[in-house]
Amino acid sequence: MVKKNKIKYLCNGCGYETNKWLGKCPQCNIYNSFVEIIDEDISKTNINLKEPSAPIKLTEIDSVKITRQKTGISEFDELIGGGIVPSSLILLGGSPGIGKSTLMLQIIENLSDIVLYIAGEESPEQIKIRADRLKLKNPKILLLQEIEISKILNTAEKIKPSVIVIDSIQTIYDSAVQSAPGNINQVRECALKLMEYAKPRNIVVFIIGHITKTGEFAGPRVLEHLVDTALYFEGEKTNDFRILKSIKNRFGATNEIAVFEMTDKGLRGINNYSNLFYFNRKDKVAGVSNSVVIEGSRPLLIEIQALVNSAIYGNARRVARGISISRLSVIIAVIEKHCGISLIDKDVFVNITGGLDIDDPAIDLAIAMSIISSVKDRAISVRSAFIGELGLTGEIRAAARMLDRFNECRKNGIDNCIVSDQNILNFEKSDISQNIKIHTIGNIKELLKYF
Ligand code: TYD
Ligand code: MG
Repeated sequence: MVKKNKIKYLCNGCGYETNKWLGKCPQCNIYNSFVEIIDEDISKTNINLKEPSAPIKLTEIDSVKITRQKTGISEFDELIGGGIVPSSLILLGGSPGIGKSTLMLQIIENLSDIVLYIAGEESPEQIKIRADRLKLKNPKILLLQEIEISKILNTAEKIKPSVIVIDSIQTIYDSAVQSAPGNINQVRECALKLMEYAKPRNIVVFIIGHITKTGEFAGPRVLEHLVDTALYFEGEKTNDFRILKSIKNRFGATNEIAVFEMTDKGLRGINNYSNLFYFNRKDKVAGVSNSVVIEGSRPLLIEIQALVNSAIYGNARRVARGISISRLSVIIAVIEKHCGISLIDKDVFVNITGGLDIDDPAIDLAIAMSIISSVKDRAISVRSAFIGELGLTGEIRAAARMLDRFNECRKNGIDNCIVSDQNILNFEKSDISQNIKIHTIGNIKELLKYF
């Protein structure tokens, strides 16, 4: 059968695939991000059944003990599961200027073998200025200013590094691929070549990738399926705290976070960050409520702020910082339907303080509470926390790991917890500290009794 070439379109931002060109990506909402790709469709009759490969019995494979290499930055080591695993591919993503190159230099400073640092973005002099600021002294760090992948791998073959750093993947290109650096084809192809080169040679590869808000460069998300570990910087450049989150980790837990502070001498790990996201107010204010979320393995007490104002006619705005806009839309719809509160002519702003992006659905109840509190202009006690997921029919669903969440409340002087009535089934009352009062509710309507 004849080979058939099909044209398809891939989103530069997230890799979303479609058969026709779209102006806006339905998955990551970036405009103008689709690029044309020729997909070689090989007919099924080409499958070769004559030369089988031999599978091995799982039980007969020897267990290997992984020796992880410590970087000396304990917060980073913990985040990735206890140190760097040999031959792993680690993606470090974040917006420009957030601190990716800084952290990278600090990590490789403590490694004992040769590190090949590919400087695709900055000149060696620029990197030297940063290295001096960080007081780096490791003579085994070798800089290479080169952006063609086969030349990079040729150099690697000569100097035999144990770690390769690519800063950044959007500046590297493969001359065999016919598109500009930063294009999704280039980014994927180069990452694949790096992987093919590094895995059999036991080399660790760090790939730095910028997250951009526009579609002209492929974002690091298109590489997530390929790498072993994907780490992203969250938070804003405007404050000094940088949150590094593990989105994927083949050698450790995911959704774990490490918190750093940007100082004049680079990033400094903060070990005890549990109080960093909690404001600990003395006086209650309308539009504010507390919740405890689980980030990775740790419970975190956080403050959720909402501001509800009259909107200009027909132009009600919904702005969410720290939660997704679709989650906010669902919560607003549930409040309108089940609490009899109209928000159609209101602007709604929601903010999670501290720059965290929260995925834990148990935050829903506190978001709803903050919004209702702002609408009614009535404040809620600063010593209560709301923990539970909202269903579309207004029901409050149980959250996991409640005892850890209660403990976090107790440590921070919160003595009232409002949770789902389904949660009561999941723990013994005697397990809960005497100092915490638990109130259970079944439906969002019952929140109104707190006003
Ligand atoms: P950088 O690592 O260059 O960001 P990225 O590689 O993610 O684009 O860091 C950028 C910011 O960090 C820059 O605005 C300067 C600041 N910075 C410090 O505040 N202190 C330092 O010691 C260093 C090296 C950088
Ligand atoms: Mg950089």
